[in-house]
Amino acid sequence: MGDIEKTKTGIEGLDELLQGGIPENHSIYVAGPAGSGKTTFGIEFLYHGAKEMNQNGLYISFEEGKEQIIDNLPFNWDLESLIGEGKIQIVKYDPYQYENIIDLIRSSVKENNAERVVIDSLTALNLYVDDTKDVRKMILDMNEQLRKLSCTTLYTGEIKTGHPEEISRYGVEEFIADGVIKLALSKQGSELSNQLLVRKMRGTDHDKKIHPFKFENDGLKVYAKEKAFESSGDSLGSGDEPF
Ligand SMILES: Nc1ncnc2c1ncn2[C@@H]1O[C@H](COP(=O)(O)OP(=O)(O)OP(=O)(O)O)[C@@H](O)[C@H]1O
Ligand SMILES: [Mg+2]
Repeated sequence: MGDIEKTKTGIEGLDELLQGGIPENHSIYVAGPAGSGKTTFGIEFLYHGAKEMNQNGLYISFEEGKEQIIDNLPFNWDLESLIGEGKIQIVKYDPYQYENIIDLIRSSVKENNAERVVIDSLTALNLYVDDTKDVRKMILDMNEQLRKLSCTTLYTGEIKTGHPEEISRYGVEEFIADGVIKLALSKQGSELSNQLLVRKMRGTDHDKKIHPFKFENDGLKVYAKEKAFESSGDSLGSGDEPF
């Protein structure tokens, strides 16, 4: 320990919780219910890498297309110029490509010299692959291949609304990943608010409290010094009533 190299996420407040960032070349799984900020989190991870750390990013989408992702970004960022300069690439894969998806990802990582990779989302894999066993195998193979390339990988996955304790759909995501960050939407009074918890991070100590986060104009902001309120909803604490 001690001298492990960290990759800063660049997300305000989060690197503080991670004591500097994600251990280099590790993979993390970002899980949360629909609309909890997973895609935004993934894009922001690539944005800071490309903009401030000279690390190229590759975004593999199994859900939204590139234009949709750019149009929906809630921040004042010039993502398109980073894409134009080849520092960030956003690729949407379609169902017919699933047979050789892992080869496609591997060659895209190499072609783009990507040091940060986002796979959004693992949950979507079963839209095209019926058998859960096959999805599991695909996730394990994908992870093994990405491990061999020297990049830091962020997988996203959806937590079913009303089942905040089930953070992985296929039962492997949280184990194959070196780190797990859980996002939640928690009801406070009549409003939903965003929360984040670092559940696991191999190779480093980290904060284990639930923190609020917000969408600011220039990116997400995790309130590292504040503890989230106790509440109900798809929140991160146990024993909460599903929203
Ligand atoms: N400017 C903003 N301020 C506050 N919240 C915002 C803002 N822009 C977007 N959001 C919230 O972020 C959500 C979308 O974020 P994002 O697409 O990253 O979530 P997701 O977890 O990837 O969702 P999905 O399950 O649809 O893939 C919106 O539903 C909205 O609640
Ligand atoms: Mg999304």
